[in-house]
Amino acid sequence: MISLAVFVFTTCLVRQVTAHASMFHPSMWGFNVTAQTFPYDNRPVAPLTNYNFDQWWFHGHLDFPPHPSDVFQLPAGGAATTEISCDKGATSFFASSPGGDVRQGDNVCPNQPIAEFHTTGFDDLKGCALAIAYKSNASEVVPEDFTVFSVNQTCVWTRFTDFQVPERMPECPNGMCTCAWFWIHSADSGGEQNYMTSFQCNVTGATSTVALAKPQVPRRCGADPDNGKQLASLSNCTYGAKQPLYWFQAENNTMFEGAHAPPFYNDLYNFVDGPQNDIFADSYLQIPNPSPVATAIPLLQLVPALVATQPVVRIFKPGLT
Ligand SMILES: *[C@@H]1O[C@H](CO)[C@@H](O)[C@H](O)[C@H]1NC(C)=O
Ligand SMILES: *[C@@H]1O[C@H](CO)[C@@H](O)[C@H](O)[C@H]1NC(C)=O
Ligand SMILES: *[C@@H]1O[C@H](CO)[C@@H](O)[C@H](O)[C@H]1NC(C)=O
Ligand SMILES: *[C@@H]1O[C@H](CO)[C@@H](O)[C@H](O)[C@H]1NC(C)=O
Ligand SMILES: *[C@@H]1O[C@H](CO)[C@@H](O)[C@H](O)[C@H]1NC(C)=O
Ligand SMILES: *[C@@H]1O[C@H](CO)[C@@H](O)[C@H](O)[C@H]1NC(C)=O
Repeated sequence: MISLAVFVFTTCLVRQVTAHASMFHPSMWGFNVTAQTFPYDNRPVAPLTNYNFDQWWFHGHLDFPPHPSDVFQLPAGGAATTEISCDKGATSFFASSPGGDVRQGDNVCPNQPIAEFHTTGFDDLKGCALAIAYKSNASEVVPEDFTVFSVNQTCVWTRFTDFQVPERMPECPNGMCTCAWFWIHSADSGGEQNYMTSFQCNVTGATSTVALAKPQVPRRCGADPDNGKQLASLSNCTYGAKQPLYWFQAENNTMFEGAHAPPFYNDLYNFVDGPQNDIFADSYLQIPNPSPVATAIPLLQLVPALVATQPVVRIFKPGLT
């Protein structure tokens, strides 16, 4: 008993002095929040677990807004390059980091073992996501407003991480949307932690005017060998626009998985790698109610851009349902 307590204590100490990870950009809420700003460590890289709503939503940083002119531009049909790091000092924005410049190329966490970004290696990466709310006033955004529009399933691995922006993203109201970066890491490299870093964003080069569909709560439907489920249950998936995974907080969860079976931004929740091209109001002709018992298959609308790039199509292979 005593040795267990000592072990837990030591582990906590190690976790405290080391960092986790966040996207960094001047467009974010909490850009200059340091370990001292709050009574507890609420730097953007600090994980969010068992927090009440005001603590986890926008990372509790709504009172630390970006300058109005600092906006992250999202080119429709192009790539948005983010910087993700354990330490602001390891990003291009090191100048306002208390520890100064500690950059090391593409290294997410300079001078730290990879367990620090919660993976045992490349094959253990679980992905992260960018979500968007078509509201320019962040105070009016509620959790049901965010739609995941891009996923990088091999995140967090490099500081510079690309996200492909769906070609059909429409313009933002008043030239401004509200976005957030979300991450939940593998269960075998640390505790049940959520990450949310919000930022001002804007879609550029839009060619479509079709709005996004109302985002639904994602469902667990992919193969899950770590939890004894060898085959995907694709009729159980949520198709089309999906909300982020709100998990393991004291309030306002939409995910109720246990600590050892986290929800992830990958095929497990039908988040394909890359742009989420089926999130628009006209993406599907029909989406049946999801169920583990296969009934009907969602019918994709034959929009030319979707036919060319729509990854969901591949799942309708016989024998997979
Ligand atoms: C962050 O800090 C830097 C350096 O002090 C300052 O120039 C910048 O305006 C600050 N940004 C915000 C959003 O407060
Ligand atoms: C943003 O929304 C809040 C909450 O509804 C409101 O109090 C505030 O006036 C709005 N700001 C602007 C610039 O419209
Ligand atoms: C994920 O980010 C890496 C590093 O920037 C990039 O090489 C890869 O293409 C990205 N994946 C997707 C699906 O965009
Ligand atoms: C957002 O993008 C639109 C279209 O390119 C542009 O007109 C607008 O000025 C941009 N807004 C900001 C804040 O950059
Ligand atoms: C279907 O999805 C629900 C909601 O995520 C999940 O609880 C259940 O385990 C899933 N069932 C199968 C067979 O995938
Ligand atoms: C969060 O949950 C509380 C308690 O259930 C509820 O009163 C509140 O409306 C929720 N907030 C949002 C923004 O959904």
